[in-house]
Parts: sequence; C-alpha cells; structure tokens
Amino acid sequence: MPDSADGALRAAAIALLQARRAGRVNADDEEAVLNAAKHSGISAAAAAIAARDCALAGLTSDEPFARLAAIISRRSNEAPAAARAQCGLAALRLRKRTWRRLGGKVRFSDDAALAELWDYSKSRKKVTQTPSARGGFDWPPAFDDPSRPLVVDAGCGFGALAAALAKARPHVNVLAVDRAAHCLLYGDGLAHRLGMTGRLRFACASADEALHWVRECYEGPLRAVLFMFPTPPALDERSKNAQLPQTPSKCLVNAATLRLAARAGHAGETCVLVASNVEDVAVRTRDLFASLPEFRVLQAKECGLAWPRTPVDGDAALRTKRWIEAGGARAVGEDFLGASPVPARTETEGWYEKESRPVYRVAGVVCKSDL
Ligand SMILES: C[S@@+](CC[C@H](N)C(=O)[O-])C[C@H]1O[C@@H](n2cnc3c(N)ncnc32)[C@H](O)[C@@H]1O
Repeated sequence: MPDSADGALRAAAIALLQARRAGRVNADDEEAVLNAAKHSGISAAAAAIAARDCALAGLTSDEPFARLAAIISRRSNEAPAAARAQCGLAALRLRKRTWRRLGGKVRFSDDAALAELWDYSKSRKKVTQTPSARGGFDWPPAFDDPSRPLVVDAGCGFGALAAALAKARPHVNVLAVDRAAHCLLYGDGLAHRLGMTGRLRFACASADEALHWVRECYEGPLRAVLFMFPTPPALDERSKNAQLPQTPSKCLVNAATLRLAARAGHAGETCVLVASNVEDVAVRTRDLFASLPEFRVLQAKECGLAWPRTPVDGDAALRTKRWIEAGGARAVGEDFLGASPVPARTETEGWYEKESRPVYRVAGVVCKSDL
C-alpha cells in the first residue's frame, strides 16, 4: 500500500479540517477528500481516519460519509451494510476495529463512539485560554424559540452529550460552550446533520461568558448548568502535570462561576450538576455548594436517585490514594448522586462507565439568585 496515497487522503482531510476551522466548509473541500479517497491503493484504515477527520471537521451532510463508507467497504471486503453511513459518527462506525464487533449499529452516543472521541481528546493539548476569535461559531447564540428552558453544557468537549440531550428533550434549548474550538466542530457538525441548529448551539466561549450572556440576554428560564468532568486542579505540589490548573479557583468549577450560574438562574428552578472521575473534585464541589448562600446541595432522593453508601474504592488512582491519605473526605451519602440525572453521556463519562471506573456526581439547586 503506497504511503503517498494514504498521505494524499490525510492531507485532504486535514485541509478540510483547516477550512472548517477558518469558518469555511464547502462542497469543494468535501470533494477533495472524496477524490483523494478514490485514489487506488488507499488503505481502509487511512480512509477511516480521514472519515473521522471529516466528522471532526463538522461536515454538514451525510453524503461524504456514505461515499467514504462505500470506498472503504470495497477496499476491505467488509459487509457493505456495516458501511452505510448515516450520521457524523459514521467515521467511528467505519473504524475497522469496532466495525466487525458492532455491525454498523454504532450511534453517536454509543460506548464505542464516545471512546473514539475520548481517545482523540487525550491526544490534544489542553487549551488554557479562551481565544478571542470565535472561529466561526455562533456568538451570541441564536435559538429559534428563545423562550424555551435552557440547558448550558459548560466545557462541553466534543458535544456528544449536548447533541444527545437536545435530541432526547425536544422542548429545551441547549447551549454548549468550550474554550477549545477544535472539539466544537464535531458537535456543531452533528447539530447541522441532525437538523437541530435552532435548538442546539455550540460556541467557543468560556463558561463565565456564557453565563453572563444567559443572565443578560436569554429570554427563557435557565433549567440547568452542566459541568461534566472539569479538569481537576493539581492536588498538591507533587503533581507533575503542568497542564492542570494549579489552584481550585482556576478550575472550570469555582465559587465565582457558580455564583454567576446562580445569578443567571432562578431560585428553586435552576440546577447545577458537576460530574467527575476524581473524588476530591466531587467533595470540594459539594463543600462549595454548601458554603455558598446561593445554593443548597441537591439530595439524591429528591431526584429519585440512589446515593453512594460506602466509599467507592474501585479506582486505584494515585490521586485518590493521596487524597485519602491526606484525610480528604469521601464522596459518600445523600449529597452525592448514585447515577446521572441526565439522559445522555459525554465522551469521558462513556469511557469511565465502559471501564467500570467510578464517576462522582453532585448537584446544587439555586435557592437565591439575586445576591
Ligand atoms: C476534561 S474536558 C471534559 C469534556 C467533556 N465535558 C467531557 O465530559 O468529556 C474539560 C473541558 O473543559 C474545557 N474548559 C476548561 N475550562 C473552561 C472554561 N473556563 N470555559 C469553557 N470551557 C472550559 C476544556 O477545554 C475541556 O474541553
């Protein structure tokens, strides 16, 4: 298999990604990828990777996926039915290693699809500043009916949860923001493909910017703010990961941002959910909710959920061990939710659940929004 053919396909897919990043995707860009894919000698694996790049580039129609699927199918002698691409996650469906196992049944919120996104996200460097250029995303976000209840997914990553939530709850608007523009392309592409751009908006913005906007401009009620798997702060000075925020106040979930959420919301009506794979983040967030007069900690039984009665020790993470050794409290009791109250999962959530690793969840209800 000549490298040059695979290389041409990769280059075309990357060009497409760059065009999308510049806020410009058109039929010519899509055609360039498909032409490169038609080149004889391209491997199925390269075509699948290109398809993934197309998905991440936010292509707005299913057609390129269907055509790529047909090309891959011809090259790899795999079942054509499995290659029938129907949505943006066709790329993931096409990946050879999941293809046989899943027989083309993957949807954008399935384990395998989320695992692909999670793998991909790990390969990207964390974005620590909100870029001033919004890279072609909608800001301010425009919803078809701005009087609907709103859910904000703050730090949404690839937006799989936002897309699945908008699909599952047709009466709400979803605003998904992240300061990393590269991952938003995917959710934005899904919103277009699923025909949900009137209710599902992606924006390259910080959580604080989004909450200010909701408070000042959004007509309808703020139903929920989701902080799913915020990057945890360095636990102590022994942390070798320079990409982690160095103090809790620099994290996505901090007192100032929670206060903004309360001000954008309404007493008794707005809920803030934080999910984490890191126990100390859940405990600190519970303590934050308890310390802020704007919030009370939601009790698991209020939303009909079970709660963790004993510490979950399944995770042998060094961080958790150090937290426990230092006398850190455990995420146990009715302040913590034993399952997700949201009918959709993020890529990180999907991966942790698939690996049977613990996920900690805590929520606060706004009880004063005018402080
Ligand atoms: C660990 S990832 C989790 C992504 C996704 N929510 C999930 O559960 O898979 C954390 C995300 O938060 C974003 N982020 C961090 N601080 C942010 C901020 N202040 N405003 C908006 N996004 C932020 C990062 O760019 C990153 O995509």
